[in-house]
Order: sequence, then structure tokens, then C-alpha cells
Amino acid sequence: MQLEKAKLQSEIAKKMSWDFIRYANVWEDSDVLNNALKVNSCDNILSISSAGCNVLSLLLKGPKSITAIDLNRSQNALLELKIAGIKNLNYNEFICLLGFKQKLDRLFLYEKLRKNLSKQVLEFWDNEIDTIEKGIVFCGRLEKYFLNFQKNILGKYFSKKELQDNLFTVESRKNEFLVALKNNDLFKKDFIWYFGKQMLAKQGRDPAQFAYVSDVDIGDYFWHRFCNILASDNVKDNFYLQFFLTSGYQDLNRTQHYLNEKNFLKLKHLVGKIVVVNDEIENLLEDAPRGFFTKANFSDIFEYMNDEIAQEFFENLSSKMPSSGRFVFWNFLVKRVPAKSNKIRHLKAESLKLFKQDRVFFYRDLLVCEVC
Ligand SMILES: C[S@@+](CC[C@H](N)C(=O)[O-])C[C@H]1O[C@@H](n2cnc3c(N)ncnc32)[C@H](O)[C@@H]1O
Repeated sequence: MQLEKAKLQSEIAKKMSWDFIRYANVWEDSDVLNNALKVNSCDNILSISSAGCNVLSLLLKGPKSITAIDLNRSQNALLELKIAGIKNLNYNEFICLLGFKQKLDRLFLYEKLRKNLSKQVLEFWDNEIDTIEKGIVFCGRLEKYFLNFQKNILGKYFSKKELQDNLFTVESRKNEFLVALKNNDLFKKDFIWYFGKQMLAKQGRDPAQFAYVSDVDIGDYFWHRFCNILASDNVKDNFYLQFFLTSGYQDLNRTQHYLNEKNFLKLKHLVGKIVVVNDEIENLLEDAPRGFFTKANFSDIFEYMNDEIAQEFFENLSSKMPSSGRFVFWNFLVKRVPAKSNKIRHLKAESLKLFKQDRVFFYRDLLVCEVC
């Protein structure tokens, strides 16, 4: 007789609060994700919602469907507001609502969208009027943490104009500026302190998100990754870095794919394919029909699970996805790799090649995997 396996549940769901927006933007490279998943018109995709940027980016590749799931309803409320904005606003109105332009009245734009929102989403945003007025792309706990870094640390040493001019305008000025930045010992000390575990857990993330992080010096780790990305070739076009340092973008058309004007118009016809689910992904997978999801994006959720539970998740996944189904995830501060016994092939060479192109400097690696 076979014993019925206990249902897999999310560990992190019970450990921290999920009633506010933690990420107002997705900090996982959308080009890397698209190149890894190679979405086609037959794909049914499963993706973590987070702030929705990568759900919209994957959608532009024309899959059959995309299921966006998050256990944090606030993250899904953010995605739902973006979807309503794409459907019902013009491009200028949309980017103004998000916070990129000051010209239009954001509350008036929100009022235009209210009748298109579900009761639950409406309830969330009606309580966040202040956030809408300030611009929703700045409202995540993480984005606020970056803004505080810009104001109170970075700003002590470098002006916004200096950063713009030397890093994001003229490539040739970069090297001299970088030498000054890297050799500034006081800035380095402040940076390492601000991105150290203690400060991050207190204000940027949640202590529960560090449950499986070993005793590495996180601030020092961040400093080295930060210096590496600054030394890389495509700094001028690295909009993730630009937002991290300045909370703004020079050219919206060359940032998140959904913020590009041409893509915005395409998305108007595509957003109907998104199914938004408020749940733990562990539950959704349990109930998913076998073979339905052909591609998946898991953000860096395995970070928050112990390795045993992560392996159980991978085992469930390989029984639910068809063979050659592909999925992607990032490792941030914790290393998770699917065991071979779980009938999953880790595509090492491809993962490494794509990770080298990653414009977000936080992560330690990227895993592209295929179900055997
Ligand atoms: C994994 S986080 C990205 C975090 C960011 N890279 C970091 O670690 O600071 C992205 C989203 O995943 C959601 N999430 C985490 N674990 C989940 C789970 N088991 N099921 C559904 N959503 C989950 C979170 O609510 C969040 O909105």
C-alpha cells in the first residue's frame, strides 16, 4: 500500500507578512529569462508574478497562456493594476500612472481604472491612494531601500548628475569615474554596511528571507558584485543599475519591455491571456493537470525553502511538466540545484552563458533546467 504524500506547503508563507508590496519592479533580467525559456505559441507558462514586469515580458513572446502566481496578494494587485492600465489607458497616461511622468493627475487616472478592477484589487488600491499619488514604481519595500541608499549614502559622495553623466551618458568617461568610486574607502565602508545582512533584514528584505543564508559577509559580497557590474561593457544600457543608483530611467523605451511604447500597444491585445492566481505555487502545482505547463519562471523562491522541500518541489515539478519542459530560476544568497534523481537536467553551459549576460548584479547564479 502506498501512503499518500503530505501536501507540500510554502515555508515562507507563514513566516513573514505579505500585506504590502515588497517589489515594485522585477529585479530579474528579462532578456536572460526570455533567452532561457525560448517561449513559443504552444507554451502554457507558469510564472511568479512579483511586480509583473517579467510576466508581461514573457507575454510579448506570444505564448498560448500565462499563469501568474504570487502568495502576496499585494504583488498581484500591482500586476492587476498594470493590466487594467494597459487595457484602458493610452501610453502617456499609463507611464504617468506608474510614476514616470508628472504631467497628468494620477488620481484621475486611477479613477478611470477603478471600474475595471475586481473587488479585492480595488480594496487594496483604495487604501493606497498615497502610493498612487507618489508613483507606484517607487513603492516597493526594496525600491524604498534603494532610494534611501541613494539619498543617505550614495548622495554623500556622488551627485545624481555625476552618476548619470559618467555611467549612463558617455561611455568614455566611465573608467576614470570608476577608479574614483572603487577607491573611495568611506563610500565602500558605507556601502558594505548598508547592504550587510543586519541592515537588509531590518529594512530591505525580511529576516525570514535569510533563514538559509550561510554566514557569508553579504555586504562585502554585494560590493564585489557591484564593482564587477560597473566594470562590465554594457553599463550605459543597464537600466537595472540605473534605477538602483538613480531611481529613474533615461529612456523608458529601453528598459522593462512593457514600458516600451510599441510593446505597450501589442500588450493591449495580449493581456487577456494572463491568469492571475493568489496562492502558494506549491498548491497550484499540486493541482495542475499533468503536462499543462511547458515553461516556468520561479524567480528565486527556492531561497526561502530548506533543500529537502526544494527537492520535493522539483520532484513534483518533473512529474507535472512534460519531458523537455523548461524552467528557470535564480539563486540569490542560497544555492539550490535540482538533484539528478528528480529527473531534471540542469543545462550548465547554457545557464553559465546566460548568467554572464545578466544585468542585475545581486544574484550568485542562474539555473536553466529541462525536465528529462
Ligand atoms: C521570490 S521574490 C523575489 C525576491 C528578490 N529577488 C529577493 O529575493 O529579494 C518574488 C516573488 O515571489 C513570491 N513568492 C515567494 N515564494 C512564493 C511561493 N512559494 N509561492 C508563490 N509566490 C511566492 C513573493 O511574494 C514575491 O512577490
